[in-house]
Amino acid sequence: MPKKVLVTFATRSGTTGQIAETVAEVLRKAGLTAEVLPVKDVRSVDEFDAVVLGTAIRIGKPMPELMQLVKKQRSRLSQIPVAAFAVCLAAKGDTPENRKTIAGYLDPVKNEITLVSEAALAGAMHYARLGVFARFVIQKMVKAEEGDFRETEKITEWAQNVARRFRSS
Ligand SMILES: Cc1cc2nc3c(=O)[nH]c(=O)nc-3n(C[C@H](O)[C@H](O)[C@H](O)COP(=O)(O)O)c2cc1C
Repeated sequence: MPKKVLVTFATRSGTTGQIAETVAEVLRKAGLTAEVLPVKDVRSVDEFDAVVLGTAIRIGKPMPELMQLVKKQRSRLSQIPVAAFAVCLAAKGDTPENRKTIAGYLDPVKNEITLVSEAALAGAMHYARLGVFARFVIQKMVKAEEGDFRETEKITEWAQNVARRFRSS
């Protein structure tokens, strides 16, 4: 029986869900069974052999609903292999400053459970997908560049590595 993996994600503007689908696709190609679900639709992780957690990063932090799931399911998540990815803009340029910024993004998750693999992946910025307040802050104050900065090769490479870790555990 192939191992059954849950790829669950927390998003605000949709990009983390798209990346979760790409990760699941790679896991399936590697011979695993992968189900993709938004965090809010996950009742329990008991039926899964391994889990991938994906979260958008806003103001330096994972989404609160992702942290709620981690805390609620901590006991099971401590018994099975878990990998996590953070989707953010700081991952779009590989500079020492950006590396320092993204290094701590998954710390709240790592304070609760052990990860077999983790990644910070570049996301996207579309002003039209933001609420009024976030749009004002991002467009006028932060002046973040608009665009889709996803790096399919990097996502695929990381997911292949996760598949290897899951298969061997
Ligand atoms: C209000 C707001 C705050 C953000 N804060 C950060 C941040 O602290 N660090 C970062 O690298 N990216 C930050 N971003 C960029 C998002 O992480 C990026 O747009 C990501 O693709 C969002 O994922 P989602 O589409 O799944 O919600 C922020 C975006 C918004 C709108």
